[in-house]
Amino acid sequence: MCTGGCAKCLGTTLIPLAVLCTLANILLFFPGGKVADNNQHITDEVWYFGGILGSGVLMIFPALVFLGLKNNDCCGCCGNESCGKRFAMFSSIIFAAVGLLGAGYCFILSAVAINKGPKCNTGTGWTYPFQDGNYLSNHTLWNVCQSPQNIVPWNLSLFSLLLIMSGIQAVLCGIQVVNGLFGTICGDCKCCGCCGGDGTV
Ligand SMILES: *[C@@H]1O[C@H](CO)[C@@H](O)[C@H](O)[C@H]1NC(C)=O
Repeated sequence: MCTGGCAKCLGTTLIPLAVLCTLANILLFFPGGKVADNNQHITDEVWYFGGILGSGVLMIFPALVFLGLKNNDCCGCCGNESCGKRFAMFSSIIFAAVGLLGAGYCFILSAVAINKGPKCNTGTGWTYPFQDGNYLSNHTLWNVCQSPQNIVPWNLSLFSLLLIMSGIQAVLCGIQVVNGLFGTICGDCKCCGCCGGDGTV
């Protein structure tokens, strides 16, 4: 099992996802694609930075660590050829857990935001006119929002993207937790081409 190679490919996938999540969160600050005339008019969940912090910044660390695992020096410590690599795989579990936390935050936030619906101007004021996702199955209700234009599909599609992408990130980080466990227990056999992988001194 080539655990270092797996980690590298996970890292390569996490980076574009993190960039896309950050972009989606930034776009949400522009309701309906326009500059909001008042910060109070932006849906609250956008301000919790699920895409920028959770799936963006927090994901950069595990992604970089996973990318580096393949090139880690594994032939180094205590006369144990695989223990340097093992330590790298072990620490990757911690970073994978950080990534899981960030992606989970973004995932839950997006689910809440989709269920709650966007904040919009109903003619009488700026409120959340929908409850329990009732607008998802009834497009007639969308007309309740008079402005910003297209706020409902705008928020719905961006939060759905965030939901899907953070879900994928969470799965990938979950895979690395398992992969890291294997790497810690078995060593990364292909790395040196030297040891049996059981790591006995
Ligand atoms: C959708 O919402 C409108 C407005 O509240 C309501 O009149 C209509 O019956 C609803 N349609 C469905 C299919 O629930």
